[in-house]
Amino acid sequence: PSDTGRVLSIQSHTVQGYVGNKSAVFPLQLLGYDVDPINSVQFSNHTGYPTFKGQVLNGEQLWELIEGLEANDLLFYTHLLTGYIGSVSFLNTILEVINKLRSVNPNLTYVCDPVMGDEGKLYVPEELVHVYREKVVPLASMLTPNQFEAEKLTGLRINSEEDGREACAILHAAGPSKVVITSITIGGLLLLIGSHQKEKGQKPEQFKILIDKIPAYFTGTGDLMTALLLGWSNKYPDSLDKAAELAVSTLQALLRRTLGDYKRAGYDPTSSSLEIRLIQSQDDIRNPNVELKAERY
Ligand code: ATP
Ligand code: PLP
Ligand code: MG
Ligand code: NA
Ligand code: MG
Repeated sequence: PSDTGRVLSIQSHTVQGYVGNKSAVFPLQLLGYDVDPINSVQFSNHTGYPTFKGQVLNGEQLWELIEGLEANDLLFYTHLLTGYIGSVSFLNTILEVINKLRSVNPNLTYVCDPVMGDEGKLYVPEELVHVYREKVVPLASMLTPNQFEAEKLTGLRINSEEDGREACAILHAAGPSKVVITSITIGGLLLLIGSHQKEKGQKPEQFKILIDKIPAYFTGTGDLMTALLLGWSNKYPDSLDKAAELAVSTLQALLRRTLGDYKRAGYDPTSSSLEIRLIQSQDDIRNPNVELKAERY
């Protein structure tokens, strides 16, 4: 671990707006990382709009890019970051990419956001759940599911903080030493639970951060959150709680700015999902002002 790194980021690209690579690449660059994006899709806009158009990369096309890099000895990465993946064949190619990158750098950190759904709804094919659970999670260094995804990956129902902590323990046993459940809603509160198992088989160090829920729906925030967790946890490898405080603080400042800007422009922020004000928040990305503190269990 060091202050910087080379990140291969395989995520969506949208022409307009900030989800996937569009919300992950700029912040990681601001934190000092070299980031090489592979766009798993190129869409006009995110899928929350009434329509979208564009292209989807398939597994063979992804592998072609990896072969091109390999032919020039360009496959040394410190980190692999993956987010939304829409098909089993693409996810299977991701597995091959992980193995290939680890054959070049055995210390590669794989940060996996197992994007499958939210608020009780799956938005990927059901067969993907099995592949994540059996094949992808075991290879991940850090996993950043939301509440629903953590339930899908563990088979647990998460109705309490205790359940969230237990889900993290189950996920550690399957592979990743760092797990952050990025959002859990319990009793109207928004909660993040982090867990770091420093030695295999040991009790993990766990913490929570209580987040003030902003009454609006944003897109791209999950992707931004995972990118920031990668960026900060590499700089503070033994303090996942600190990394999470920094990431959450950036998110809160950015979301307040986003909401304020929409309101000033006369939009009703509850009428549709809001595009985050990423570029305007660059100071909050570089130097977050930590207001929300992690509480250790
Ligand atoms: P995934 O990418 O796996 O779907 P997710 O569902 O947790 O992750 P989000 O719901 O976007 O992604 O939440 C990520 C982070 O964004 C949260 O930890 C929180 O800091 C912030 N966030 C998102 N929505 C809100 C909100 N309405 N109010 C306050 N913070 C929010
Ligand atoms: N990728 C694409 C193409 C999307 O359309 C969306 C949301 O609509 C996302 C990713 C999800 O972004 P997030 O989970 O970070 O809000
Ligand atoms: Mg969510
Ligand atoms: Na997440
Ligand atoms: Mg999400």
